[in-house]
Amino acid sequence: MNKIAVYPGSFDPITKGHMDIINRAVFLFDKVIIGVLNNSSKKYWFSLEERVEMIKKIIPTEYKNKIEVKGFRGLLIDFMRNNDASIIIRGLRAVSDYEYELQLALTNKKLADGDIDTIFLPASRETLYLSSSIVKELAMYGGRLEDFVDNAIIEIIKNKVRKVEEVNDEKSKNICSR
Ligand code: PNS
Repeated sequence: MNKIAVYPGSFDPITKGHMDIINRAVFLFDKVIIGVLNNSSKKYWFSLEERVEMIKKIIPTEYKNKIEVKGFRGLLIDFMRNNDASIIIRGLRAVSDYEYELQLALTNKKLADGDIDTIFLPASRETLYLSSSIVKELAMYGGRLEDFVDNAIIEIIKNKVRKVEEVNDEKSKNICSR
């Protein structure tokens, strides 16, 4: 039987921490589907299409037949059922992640009547501190991004910063001219 796992997340944007989990998960399952959440009540920097494209850009070519990238809305377990997946992969960094992750894992298991389970992979030492929020903050203040995200998406992130700054400038001009 094919073991299909889903690695869900916002990936706003994908970091080297996410890639570390993906690169290890491909050896544990027959197929890994990266499920990119689009939650309409959440504010993302990048659109769903942009987040999916960035991930596709940096997946190592040798894994392309084992990894799929798909967007989803709504409940994770519905997305899993639609994709015949039975395992959720989540990365764990500090102890502070654990409480929320346990809540998610137990809720998903209950919702799926026990048919779906979560496997936690510990973050590697090199990426233990890393998050998409840290990457966005660094990018906003012009920090070096090379250690935190793949080189192939750095320009995309920098362009987004320019756009965010343009929008903010426009907003403050409008406030000033009132
Ligand atoms: O990268 P994130 O934002 O920490 O990922 C959170 C994610 C996508 C795993 C979680 O928010 C999720 O699964 N959302 C979909 C809605 C859902 O099924 N929630 C769990 C039951 S309440």
